[in-house]
Amino acid sequence: MAVNRTPFIAGNWKMNLDHLQAIALVQKLAFALAEAKHDPADAEVAVFPPFTDLRSVQTLVDADRLPIAYGGQDVSSHDSGAYTGEISGAFLAKLGARYVIIGHSERRTLHAESDELVNAKVLAAQKHGIVPVLCVGETAEDLEAHGASAVPVAQLRRALEGVDPAKEIVVAYEPVWAIGSGQAATPEQAQQVGAALRAVLAEVLGPDVAASTRILYGGSVKSSNIASFLREPDVDGALVGGASLDVDEFSAIVRFKKHVGA
Ligand code: PGA
Repeated sequence: MAVNRTPFIAGNWKMNLDHLQAIALVQKLAFALAEAKHDPADAEVAVFPPFTDLRSVQTLVDADRLPIAYGGQDVSSHDSGAYTGEISGAFLAKLGARYVIIGHSERRTLHAESDELVNAKVLAAQKHGIVPVLCVGETAEDLEAHGASAVPVAQLRRALEGVDPAKEIVVAYEPVWAIGSGQAATPEQAQQVGAALRAVLAEVLGPDVAASTRILYGGSVKSSNIASFLREPDVDGALVGGASLDVDEFSAIVRFKKHVGA
C-alpha cells in the first residue's frame, strides 16, 4: 500500500438486507467507527447495498454527515429507455452514489456479462461521474491452466478500452475461487496479480494514473487476514462480501491498522 493511496474498504452486501435493515447496519457501523475514533485518512469506507436501500442510506448519511460512501452493485450501460429492470448511472448519481461495482464475477457468470458489456458499463458510470469499482479475477480452472494473472490482466485491458485517464477508477482483484469460499488468496498471490494489474494501468492510462489508482483484493477477507493483504505494496484495500454484513467484523476490517498493529 503506497502512501499516496488512501486504503479503501468496501462492503459488497450482495442481495442481503432490506432498506430497514440497511438503516440499522449503517447506523451501527457509524457508531462503531465513531467510538473507535476512526480516522478517514486511515481508510475510506464504502457500502454497496441493494438498489432498493440506496435512498434510505443516502438520507441517513446526509442527515448525520456520516463518513461512509455508498454505491450500487451494478449499472446499466444505457442512460435511459426501454431496458426493463436496469438502473441508469444518472439515477445512481442523483442518489449521491460515489461508486458502482462493475463486472463482479457473480454478474459475469450468473448474468453472462461479457468483457464488452463490462467495458460499456465502465464508460457509462464515468460518464455520470461515478467511480467504477471494476472487478476482475480468474476461476480455479483459469488458475490451473494459465496461472493467476493472465485472465485478470486480459479482463482489465478489455474493460479500459476508451477510458479517459482523467477519470478515477478502482480495480478489484477477486479470484473467483476465493469468493465466499473461506479460502482467501495468499497475500503474495494478491500482490503478484496487483502488480500485474498496475502494469496494465500504466501501459493504458499512464504511469501517474497507475501510481494513484487503488487496487483492492477481494475474496474471503476477514479481520484476521486483512492486515496481511494491506502490507503488500500493490494492495490498497479490500472488497468484502460476507464479512461486510457483520458490523463488528466489518469495522474491525476497517480498523486494520489498529487491531493488528500493521
Ligand atoms: P466474500 O465476497 O468476502 O464473501 O468472499 C467477496 C465479493 O464477492 O466481493
